[in-house]
Amino acid sequence: MCGIFGYIGSKKNAAQTVLSGLKLLEYRGYDSWGIAIKPQNLKLKTQNEKLIIDKHIGKIGKAVIGNKLSVISHLAIGHTRWATHGGVTDKNAHPHLDCKKEIAVVHNGIIENFEDLKKDLKNKGHKFASETDSEIIPHLIEEEMKTTKNIEKAVKNTFNKLKGMNALVVSSIKSNEIIAAKTGSPLVVGKGEEDFYLASDASGILPHTKNLLFMSDNQMVILGKKPKLLNLLDGKTEKMTFEKATWETKFEEKGDFPHFMIKEIGQQSTIIRSIAKNIDSQLEKLTAAIENAHGTFFIGAGTAYHAGLVGTYLFSKISKRHVNMAVASEFNYLLDFINKESLIIALSQSGETIDVIEPLSIAQKKGSTIASLVNSPGSTIFRMSDIKLLLNAGVEQAVASTKAYTAKVSKLLIISYMIYKREDEASKQLLLAAEEIDRIIKEKEKLKPVADFLSKSENVYIIGRGVSFATSLEAALKIKEVTYIHAEGLAGGELKHGTLALISKGTPCIVFAPQDETYQAILSNAIEIKSRGGVIIGVGPKKEDVFDYFIQVKDCLDANPIAQIVPAQILAYLIAVKRGLDPDKPRNLAKSVTVK
Ligand code: F6R
Repeated sequence: MCGIFGYIGSKKNAAQTVLSGLKLLEYRGYDSWGIAIKPQNLKLKTQNEKLIIDKHIGKIGKAVIGNKLSVISHLAIGHTRWATHGGVTDKNAHPHLDCKKEIAVVHNGIIENFEDLKKDLKNKGHKFASETDSEIIPHLIEEEMKTTKNIEKAVKNTFNKLKGMNALVVSSIKSNEIIAAKTGSPLVVGKGEEDFYLASDASGILPHTKNLLFMSDNQMVILGKKPKLLNLLDGKTEKMTFEKATWETKFEEKGDFPHFMIKEIGQQSTIIRSIAKNIDSQLEKLTAAIENAHGTFFIGAGTAYHAGLVGTYLFSKISKRHVNMAVASEFNYLLDFINKESLIIALSQSGETIDVIEPLSIAQKKGSTIASLVNSPGSTIFRMSDIKLLLNAGVEQAVASTKAYTAKVSKLLIISYMIYKREDEASKQLLLAAEEIDRIIKEKEKLKPVADFLSKSENVYIIGRGVSFATSLEAALKIKEVTYIHAEGLAGGELKHGTLALISKGTPCIVFAPQDETYQAILSNAIEIKSRGGVIIGVGPKKEDVFDYFIQVKDCLDANPIAQIVPAQILAYLIAVKRGLDPDKPRNLAKSVTVK
């Protein structure tokens, strides 16, 4: 999590460049932000010449450069924070400084051994201003400088002391360089005509240059007049090879929409239509790999996990194939039986989720084939995959994933039918779902009474059977993350095994009831809930007596999970707005989860 942006070069307004970069990276963390600049014309003759630091709590939003930073500067580093160690305060915001306030550091990751290192530094007399793990870095560098007298060596020695997955960027009042090092957390260098950019995600750099260098783990880069790339394991210099990005990251404005979430919900039908019409060669490659693999595993986190779960039902029903699905963070503990004949298919919107990257790297070392369905070209997962499928859903800016979810499920539907050699059928069903989504969105006002009812609830239970079980999990996730209402999705069959005990008079329960093989059984579950006082919100093609509220979703055959999730997304959005919350940036969450 956390966004890092750095600039060094001929532009005179480094702070402005960094601020604009941070705004593009704000999706990575938005509880506070800060910038450090090295002002121009420093003679370093007096003790007063210092880095200028500006830190703020809250979202960057429309922030502008204040007086403090509006001096000529060719070097700046900045950070947008998602708190891990220490609350959301000015002091905990990055950049952090050493005792002499000469070294500024921004950091992404978690320093696993920070307590021991901090204790040691305190014993040596260092004073700390924040509760963060990150603040030990400038102090460690300061300490190293005493013996090395060289910032490059000091950063290198410091980095080698840190345990965990970390990316750090350093600037010192005494050097005209930005120094950065990483392991785990991403860092990308951009090379302009007369300058360098550094960011945790290429999307922040692409407005300036397409020449990119994706840093590998245990590399350190020194950006300045004599740029250098070092391998921190053997200390050797490596060639700085920049590749040309072939993609663009088009950030959109909200336009007439009050929030990105509702805009992105509305884009889904267009994306699905485009997926239905474009069967690319990578899809064929993936289908062949699935057919040849000895064991196929989907992995993903959160919404991506739910998309994969839908996939397991589609593969079983349509292609008569067993696919294993694992929550990515748990896959670490299930890797023993993975071998070079295994195929791992990673699902990820950002392509940067550490919980996905970690097991993928292990599987890759074991020789497994890695395939991925990701939305961000150039992302870590995309680059490390043998078979790369882009979702082409466009940049998803709202934290809650909507269009990337339906894009993933649409691609999985196509793949299931491709294995069965009937991709034409998948396309037809996707077009059906797209039409139904358009209707649901056009008539979204009809969902308001349900949203009003749910917005007063503390709990909501959501059930489905078969593929709709996965939909119920995703619907629950959407509701809880943007409305902060406790929402629980479960398989209809599981009700009697415990959760029914929580149903009492007035408890809302959303029931996904498509007219498939689950229909009768899920209606029986609805009746069981109703007879305990529950209020039933039925979602499906047909109104039934047991429903207190009815949300119609016409039958879209195997594309049902795609159409069915849309009213749940809209409900989550409407409830959040009704409760006065910002659905685009829910509390405690970030768009890209790059720490474990
Ligand atoms: C939920 C949501 C998260 C992500 C999860 C994985 O709306 O956005 O649950 O789905 O953090 O992220 P990606 O897909 O980027 O790997």
